Amino acid sequence: MCGIVGYTGFRDAYEIVINGLKRLEYRGYDSAGIVLENNKNEVELKKAKGKVSDLEAIAGNLKNTSHVGMGHTRWATHGVPSDINSHPHVSNNGKIVLVHNGIIENYETIKIMLSQKGFVFHSQTDTEVLANFIQYFMDESGKDFAEAVRAALSEVYGAYAIAALHVDYPGQFVVGRLSSPLAIGLGDKEYFIASDASPFVEFTKEAIYLEDGHMALISLDRGVDIRLIKDNSKVDAEIQQLQISLEQIEKGGYDHFMLKEIFEQPKSIHDTMRGRLLLDEGIIKMAGIWDHLERIQAAKRIIIIACGTSWHAGLIGEYLIEEFARIPVEVEYASEFRYRNPIITPKDVVIAISQSGETADTMAAIKLAKEKGAFVYGICNVIGSSIARITHAGSYTHAGPEIGVASTKAFTAQLTILAMIALKLGKHNGNLNNTEFMQYLYELDAIPKKIEEVLASSHDTAKQIAEEFVNATNFLYLGRGYNFPAALEGALKLKEISYIHAEGYPAAEMKHGPIALIDENMPMVIIAPKQGYYDKIVSNVQEIKARKGRIIALVNKGDEQVASMADYVIEFPETSECFSPMMASVPLQLLAYYIAVFRGVNVDQPRNLAKSVTVE
Ligand code: AGP
Ligand code: GLU
Repeated sequence: MCGIVGYTGFRDAYEIVINGLKRLEYRGYDSAGIVLENNKNEVELKKAKGKVSDLEAIAGNLKNTSHVGMGHTRWATHGVPSDINSHPHVSNNGKIVLVHNGIIENYETIKIMLSQKGFVFHSQTDTEVLANFIQYFMDESGKDFAEAVRAALSEVYGAYAIAALHVDYPGQFVVGRLSSPLAIGLGDKEYFIASDASPFVEFTKEAIYLEDGHMALISLDRGVDIRLIKDNSKVDAEIQQLQISLEQIEKGGYDHFMLKEIFEQPKSIHDTMRGRLLLDEGIIKMAGIWDHLERIQAAKRIIIIACGTSWHAGLIGEYLIEEFARIPVEVEYASEFRYRNPIITPKDVVIAISQSGETADTMAAIKLAKEKGAFVYGICNVIGSSIARITHAGSYTHAGPEIGVASTKAFTAQLTILAMIALKLGKHNGNLNNTEFMQYLYELDAIPKKIEEVLASSHDTAKQIAEEFVNATNFLYLGRGYNFPAALEGALKLKEISYIHAEGYPAAEMKHGPIALIDENMPMVIIAPKQGYYDKIVSNVQEIKARKGRIIALVNKGDEQVASMADYVIEFPETSECFSPMMASVPLQLLAYYIAVFRGVNVDQPRNLAKSVTVE
């Protein structure tokens, strides 16, 4: 987690760093700091607990004072959010300044060794230990700055992206990476460093994404010199052309990124299908799948690995792939999968789903699956992300940058990709005949339009219902079949941004426990489209009604049976059952959004969360 920004060039470094930190704040926002080099071989450092706006209040005097500097917005792993634990951290001799994203797992051992040598520590962070470890290598063995960073990084393990400055090496950054992202923006007589490219998109479209185990020395006179941490050998890096634009990452008139992203879904789903779902030709064209079709088709089983919302998309993927391709699917939390010595064979195909493409547990699970010979297919949103680069093949969701911490448009884009994969496999292996295949294609193609309709029809209703339930302390979400994972996702959205306890359940499981919770104060959200399980869900609604639960029902337009029993009704257009979670999720996102807004929560940056979880 956390965001790193650095700059060397001719512009005001303060502006670049502060604005960059604001764009990266989604990655962590419990404290922030900035350091700038002045022309007296000294640094000016300001840091504090709180948001980047709090930092601005204490660091504004640094404006227009320097052309070299870096900053950090933190998501605490070691030590509470506090002024002292904020980054940057400085070595004991006051010369090395470090910002760090990730965890140094062996920091305790190093800290003990350094303490015995007389080093003192002011913070509880692992980062301060690394800053002093670099000093130690310079003091003890006379190494120069970059060599000392290399020596220190060779000894630490865990996950890191770091950027370091040294007062005796003005205008130089040393950066390094292991399992946490770091991009270097290449401008004309200027360089940028950032956790993702958003801080520098308006200045340059060329970037290098540092690879694991690589470090770089960056300065105006020496350019970008990339080396392997393990043996200092030189590396030729690939320069990538950035595809994001500034307007894609701005709020565009909405109060929050989350609301903007909810409303973007007709477009983002359309973008996911663009050039892939070709109605006229009656095909789904996905190079990532096509190039490896035989391998995927021959899979004995497919294992989907992901975390959080992406895991919920994976559960729906299981239903889709099993229904259409008839290949057995297992869905695993990446964090559990990686540590339980799973049985993986070269006959397995693993699908890893991740919006950010940086989730540490998902990355580790992919590495494990690759070691065991499985073919790994990635579904990522962030272009050029680590997961996109380490998987054998994959498809981007093309939903555009998702900044709100609560995932919305990335989720529906993931469902779109999974639906296309399942349909393509089903058509190829003969489980779907051409007529069936074409029917689904038309249905899928119509989803963006229907989402436009559901946004228009449910926006005000969701807001009104939110007002009613703003003081609720618990929520239950129920769904069946494809809409069971949609219930889980609805509950997760509510939990993470409103801090209201919520649980998702398969509707039929209610009788096996949660029914005991129902009373006249318990809001029950029930997803009940008029499909396969409709009659069953009608019975579930009756059971809730009999116990006086307050029912918020999501039903198809024109539904009377469930609607007549519900206290509140949200309608959405009919679609094939397999696509109904895409429709149902939208009003659930709106409901969570407005409840959180009415409770005064900063929905784009809810407490304790971070957009990309680059630590395990
Ligand atoms: C989504 O709303 C969450 N903030 C979170 O569960 C997220 O989906 C999870 O951390 C996985 O992230 P990824 O898709 O970037 O791998
Ligand atoms: N481990 C470091 C800390 O706790 C960095 C955390 C981060 O990535 O923000 O300060």
